[in-house]
Amino acid sequence: MNEVKWLDSAVFYEIYPQSFKDSNGDGIGDFNGIIEKLDYIKDLGCTAIWMNPCFDSPFLDAGYDVRDYYKAAPRYGTNDDLKHLFGEVHKRGMHILLDLVPGHTSWEHEWFRQSCKAAPNPYTDRYIWTDNTWEAPEGMNALIGISERVGACGVNFFSHQPALNYGYYRPDKPWQQSMDSPGAKATLEAMKDVMRFWLNAGCDGFRVDMAHSLVKHDEDSKGTIALWQDVRAFLDREFPDAAMVSEWGEPDRSLQGGFHMDFLLHFGPSHYNDLFRCEHPFFGGGGDASEFVKAYTANREKSGGKGLMCIPSGNHDMTRLAKYIHGGRRKIAFAFLLSMPGAPFIYYGDEIGMRYVEGLYSVEGGYERTGSRSPMQWDDTPNAGFGTSPADKLYIPLDQSPDRPTVRSAQADPDSLLNEIKKLTAVRAAHPALQSRGDIEFVYCVKNEYPLAYVRKDGGEAILVILNPSDREVSFPFTEALGKSIYTYGAPAAQANGSVTVKPQTAGWYLI
Ligand code: BGC
Repeated sequence: MNEVKWLDSAVFYEIYPQSFKDSNGDGIGDFNGIIEKLDYIKDLGCTAIWMNPCFDSPFLDAGYDVRDYYKAAPRYGTNDDLKHLFGEVHKRGMHILLDLVPGHTSWEHEWFRQSCKAAPNPYTDRYIWTDNTWEAPEGMNALIGISERVGACGVNFFSHQPALNYGYYRPDKPWQQSMDSPGAKATLEAMKDVMRFWLNAGCDGFRVDMAHSLVKHDEDSKGTIALWQDVRAFLDREFPDAAMVSEWGEPDRSLQGGFHMDFLLHFGPSHYNDLFRCEHPFFGGGGDASEFVKAYTANREKSGGKGLMCIPSGNHDMTRLAKYIHGGRRKIAFAFLLSMPGAPFIYYGDEIGMRYVEGLYSVEGGYERTGSRSPMQWDDTPNAGFGTSPADKLYIPLDQSPDRPTVRSAQADPDSLLNEIKKLTAVRAAHPALQSRGDIEFVYCVKNEYPLAYVRKDGGEAILVILNPSDREVSFPFTEALGKSIYTYGAPAAQANGSVTVKPQTAGWYLI
């Protein structure tokens, strides 16, 4: 498998396209708006972009319900506009991943319309159908009573997202197809065609939605891993430079499947939420990081020490970081995110502390996620500089607080989170030990205690990271001499008698 070198030093920025920048005043973000802001993203120190789904869709799940994989959603622009975006990204030496949704389509997809017909056709087996209208596929919700054909169709997430058929690992009912049945194989080939189309158009790879979910009745993921290995072989043959990042949450499995990196998720066993989003988060100053570190270390070991796990500041499915972590502690959280192995992902707006907007009605299937998807706040002009539409045309209302953060005010304040993140990304860029592939060894992490300390290493370089978001001065045993500090927030650490002491609410990266 090709290693895709640029991932080694990548820092990603997640763009939720509908909410980033509206260039034509229709109340919804678009590709040309993103192009206007690429220099901003680059200036932040981000080298790559993950853009949420931007394909034709009825938008009942924000575009995770694709109606046509080959067509850019007109509200964002044309396919040519999207290609232009790829070109502008590349011109700046950056890369861009599209969001591939291989598990399900919209119920408005033409494949599904054909699949609903009683007369057999090439799409009859494109989705998971039972042979009895009253029997849903076990373990799944289903669409029933919507088709001419007899049967119920399984859905993966919302009811309007029929599940594509990649087969069952061990079929045990007449209607369950095996992974090598013609229908399941045709689905996989169709998805490879989609990938081929966009890679040829110039994207650099994919973030893959629900990558773990494709083969059914596959408890150990053996079938799904084999399926992704098949995709990997196709990519190695045709697009060896394509980067693949999975929404899976089990790196020991996804990396075997040929993904370069896997996300740590806010659901599942990673304890990621212990750090940022729970009643007492570690970076809130009164929590515990030890369960996270245990799970993280186990994952690294299980995935052969590769450690290519992406830790996001947030994403379009989570409550915003700013709801739980306040003030200078956000800087300490970013000193963590930007010093961990794997590629960090910054969710748009987190760099200025954008807030979770409470009390919004659900928009486009967002439900409680809607509050984390509000328009980006650029400046103090109308609509916070997001776009020129009348305020009531904004597809999600803005944060109405009079003191809402903006990019303009953050840029003007030398002490802002934004300016701190710029320092952090610049130091990370200068030190391979801090980047995706450097080793990590946790040197201090005790249940309910502070600080968290670890050493990152690569080649001849070793860097000690110390994070103390608590309100206490704390110490930990460390005998190696601390060298030059390459980053500090707050007072620097002091070393005496085999122990290192750090002041409340501080972070530091030290050469050792
Ligand atoms: C995406 C969600 C989406 C779901 C269904 C996820 O994991 O991140 O936003 O609703 O998949 O496609």
